Amino acid sequence: AGSDANADLKALIRTIPDFPQPGIQFRDITALLLDGPGFAETVDRLAVLARPMAPDLIACVEARGFLFGAALAKELKLGVLPIRKRGKLPGQTVGVDYALEYGTDRLEMHAHDLIPPRRVLIVDDLIATGGTVMATAELVRIQGGEVAGALFVVDLPELGGADRLRQAGITVESLVAFD
Ligand code: PRP
Ligand code: ADE
Repeated sequence: AGSDANADLKALIRTIPDFPQPGIQFRDITALLLDGPGFAETVDRLAVLARPMAPDLIACVEARGFLFGAALAKELKLGVLPIRKRGKLPGQTVGVDYALEYGTDRLEMHAHDLIPPRRVLIVDDLIATGGTVMATAELVRIQGGEVAGALFVVDLPELGGADRLRQAGITVESLVAFD
């Protein structure tokens, strides 16, 4: 889908300056989530981009990634691998430290969740520096999984995340871009 086809979705994403810290243009998806037809259209378009990647599992990142990842998984009749911030998962975990546009954190998944190995599509609301998804891809690979691709509602290309993922050999698709 080209940018014209997605112009209506783009209009549902607000920009809030200086959140969560000065200098950040925050791209806010809450109006899109509030709009039933807009949310449904978003998930339908994600499904169109996801199918050629032939995933057999959806990995999505806490918290905003869960909203789109779980809805897409239902559409594709696939399971969900929740990637969580530090300390949230109750079982034995594996973790990776990472940096994002406005901070650092640690992402974790349950050990052994990719036995047998799976072909995993990583889904998030937005890609900025790519730190979150690089860490997720590392977790998937450490656990023996294969990365089918990475899929986003919003790309911020000036922050270089999509290029970084492509340089790491990951197929990247998104619905709308903000310069
Ligand atoms: C946001 C967003 C992505 C990530 C993108 O999540 O939902 O996961 O940042 O940034 P990056 O490409 O520079 O890594 P955030 O960590 O703010 O958490 P939230 O979903 O809980 O709001
Ligand atoms: N996550 C990282 N950078 C972001 C931004 N500029 N807007 C919304 N979410 C983000």
